[in-house]
Amino acid sequence: MVTGNDKTPITVAPEIQPAVVPERKRERADPCTMIVFGASGDLTRRKLFPALYSLAAANLLDEGFAVLGVARESMTDEEYRALMRSELLKSDGFKSLDERAWSWLASRTWYASADFVDPATFPAIASKLAAVDGAPPGEANHLFYLAIPPSVFPPTVTNLAASGLLQRTASAADRPWSRIVVEKPFGRSLDTALELNALLLDRVGEHQVYRIDHYLGKESVQNILVFRFANSIFEPLWNRQYISHVQITAAESLGVETRGKYYEEAGVVRDMFQNHLLQLLSLAAMEPPIAIEADAVRDEKVKVLRSIRPIVADGEAAAVRAQYVASSSRPDGVVGYRSERGVEPQSVTPTFAAVRITIDNWRWKGVPFFLRSGKRMKRRKSEIVVQFKSPPHMIFGSAGNARVPPGRLTMRVQPREGIALRFQVKTPGTVHELTPGFETTPVEMDFCYEEAFAEAPNPAYETLLLDTMLGDATLFTRSDEVEMAWRVMDPLIQLWSNEPAGGMPTYEAGSWGPREADELITRELPGAKWL
Ligand code: NDP
Ligand code: BG6
Repeated sequence: MVTGNDKTPITVAPEIQPAVVPERKRERADPCTMIVFGASGDLTRRKLFPALYSLAAANLLDEGFAVLGVARESMTDEEYRALMRSELLKSDGFKSLDERAWSWLASRTWYASADFVDPATFPAIASKLAAVDGAPPGEANHLFYLAIPPSVFPPTVTNLAASGLLQRTASAADRPWSRIVVEKPFGRSLDTALELNALLLDRVGEHQVYRIDHYLGKESVQNILVFRFANSIFEPLWNRQYISHVQITAAESLGVETRGKYYEEAGVVRDMFQNHLLQLLSLAAMEPPIAIEADAVRDEKVKVLRSIRPIVADGEAAAVRAQYVASSSRPDGVVGYRSERGVEPQSVTPTFAAVRITIDNWRWKGVPFFLRSGKRMKRRKSEIVVQFKSPPHMIFGSAGNARVPPGRLTMRVQPREGIALRFQVKTPGTVHELTPGFETTPVEMDFCYEEAFAEAPNPAYETLLLDTMLGDATLFTRSDEVEMAWRVMDPLIQLWSNEPAGGMPTYEAGSWGPREADELITRELPGAKWL
């Protein structure tokens, strides 16, 4: 659809209106047993199990599939199935239960109780696994999924390997396969990420490790590559000559919900910047890979991360952190961060950050990238906005060059996944003596996935889980990529942890963040603002 001035609908050429809905061609997963460590946690309840259910409903899981959930809590298999079913019914976007698919999945769902830091509990996991494996001993494929707090990753990996459950294979082609999925944040600093990588690669091969960043499973994020490299229209403009600056936002309207304890340890930089935001930045800024293959794509992303100028120089950073407080103007029952469950009353954990990034390479010389993310912001939106330069000389409009907004391309990651292009058109009407020259009006061409393909894009975890069972690592991060991302963000975390946080700005829940974040942009680009 095209809209004029964001309000007036404009007719669209018929050949682009009802989009073709191609049949989804997805391969069926290999037979395997998925062992979910952290089976009672938030991620498993809200994302992993609903994704498994959708894969089952789409007939994408093999007859030989089974899932074994493990956590400390004591539960029978039947209680665990009932818990997952009730969570599924409440999950985001759930419509109606396909009883056949649920029974299929439930009959393959098992539970065991164990403490992963205690090696003595691993023989019990091993014997339950042997009982639930759909294949004869020694022939089952195993997918170990670490949906546990990051502090428990190292002992779990150590104990898994020591128990013989997780075994090294020589190559990705070996059967049966054994893979380990590691959730984010991968470590809590550069040093701990290096240690975790060293530990993993001491026990298994890189081809067995799937470091997950669920943003890479989003269709709209993968589409950044397609949009940039399957079209020749924009790529010639995708550089310092035509682009003024780039903004990357991941704003959430939710607070920390039930995850106060985790968030206290993480904060916004570890939770969102080191992973999701830097992934978006890498995809938007990278050079074309030689092919859409795991290593080719990762090589290009790593090059972008390596080109980022250190964020902290001489003890200073072009960055702002802040924490949300209850809104004084909208007493809607939303509490400030310090009053959230699991959060220290004097907490100095930032829930918002805005950071200016410089990419020191040929393509991006002089083009600032502004990144921001926060909890409890005005509304949920994740997007990349590419702001083009104004024309070198403005011949239209009585208002003069300065007041004609430059072109802008917005890649919406969510919601309304899609792409919008804003440009100037002639304002309809005759030219008369008082306003010589044409008047111009900004209009927007808008592509929306759900409208174009008549269905919502696949949830990220569905795509990524299927990929892990198929052995496709393209949408997962490599060890050097994770380490480079820490090299970029760790100095900022260090700087802020050494600075007194007493003066940290606050922002009201339901706002777009603190004034200082606006100044980050206006200081450098007068007249510009967060979009
Ligand atoms: P939760 O705290 O909700 O769940 C943690 C799970 O781990 C629980 O099942 C807990 O069960 C289990 N667990 C913790 N310690 C042990 C232990 N020593 N032995 C056995 N089980 C243990 O965390 P989340 O589910 O939110 O997060 C899990 C991981 O996923 C984290 O790395 C997080 O960063 C990541 N993640 C989470 C997202 C989300 O939306 N929740 C999104 C993206 C990533 P019990 O206490 O019964 O043992
Ligand atoms: C997770 C973070 O990785 O991403 C959460 O741990 C955050 O704090 C979530 O809420 C955001 O994901 P999405 O897909 O809702 O943008």
